[in-house]
Amino acid sequence: MSTDQEINVASHYTTDNLLGRIKSALVAAGSDPENLQAHELKGVDEFHTGGVQATDDLLAQLSISNTTRVLDIGCGIGGASRHIAAHTGATVTGFDLTPDYITTANALSDLVGMRKQTQFLTGSAVAMPVGDNSFDLATMFHVGMNIADKHALFREAHRVLAPDATFALFDIMQTDTGDLTFPFPWAEKADWSFIESPETYKSIALKAGFTLTSERNRRDFTLAYFDKAFAAIEKNGAPHPVGIHLLMKDTAAQKLKNYVTEVKAGKLAPVEMIFRKS
Ligand SMILES: C[S@@+](CC[C@H](N)C(=O)[O-])C[C@H]1O[C@@H](n2cnc3c(N)ncnc32)[C@H](O)[C@@H]1O
Repeated sequence: MSTDQEINVASHYTTDNLLGRIKSALVAAGSDPENLQAHELKGVDEFHTGGVQATDDLLAQLSISNTTRVLDIGCGIGGASRHIAAHTGATVTGFDLTPDYITTANALSDLVGMRKQTQFLTGSAVAMPVGDNSFDLATMFHVGMNIADKHALFREAHRVLAPDATFALFDIMQTDTGDLTFPFPWAEKADWSFIESPETYKSIALKAGFTLTSERNRRDFTLAYFDKAFAAIEKNGAPHPVGIHLLMKDTAAQKLKNYVTEVKAGKLAPVEMIFRKS
C-alpha cells in the first residue's frame, strides 16, 4: 500500500514512453536496440552522480563474487544491478518504487540478454519486497533523498541482510545549512525531498544495528565530473542522445544545474557510506 508521498515520488520519476525513447536514443547514437550490449546503456541506466564511474568506485571497496546475493535498493531502470551482475557473475535482485522503472529495467535486461542474472520487483524501501536474512550485500544509489522515514529504511535493510552482510550506499546528503533551490533531479519541490546530513544517516544506521566501516564525501569527484559533462554539452550543442536527461522530463538541465550549484556552495554532496550488519 503506497503512501501519498510515495505516489508523488513515483509520479516524479514516471515519464512518457521511457523504453521507446531510450530505444530511439540508442538508434540516434548508432546502436541497434535488437543487438545490444549492456555497456551501450550506461549513459542512461545509472541515474546517479558520476554514473558508472561512481558505481565502480563504490564496488572497488566491496568484495563480491559470483555467489554473493546482491540486493539493489531503489534500482531505477537497473543499470547498477546489471553492471554488478555483468562484472562479478553475481545474481542481483533490484526493487524500486516506480512501476514504470521496473517494467523498463526488466525490458532492458531482456534486450541485453541479462534476464537470468537480474530480477526486478516493484516495492518500497520502507517495506522491502524480499525475505529476512536473504542477501549478503545491499547497494543503494541516490535513493535516500526520496525517503522520509530513514529509520524504516535502515530497519528494513537490516532485516533483509544476513549476519555480517554489507550495506553500501551512495546518497546525496546535506553538508551545510541554508535554503536549497529546487527543482533537483530527485524532486521538483521541497515537499518530496528528504535530504539528511551524514551524521543523521550514521546515527540512524547505528540504531538499526549497523556498524560504519567507511565513509567518503565525493564532492571533488562530482565537480570534476560535471565540469567535463557540461563542457561536452557546450561543445556538441546537446547532450549525448543516450543520457540521463531522458529520465528527467523537460527541466533536466535546470535540475542538474541547481544540484551542481548547491554542491559548489557546499550545501549538498554525494556521500558513500559502507555499513556492516552487526
Ligand atoms: C535518482 S533515482 C536512482 C535510481 C538508481 N538507483 C540508479 O542509480 O540508477 C532514485 C530512485 O529511487 C526510487 N525510490 C524513491 N523512493 C523509493 C522508495 N521508498 N523505495 C524504493 N525506491 C524508491 C525512485 O523510484 C528512483 O528510481
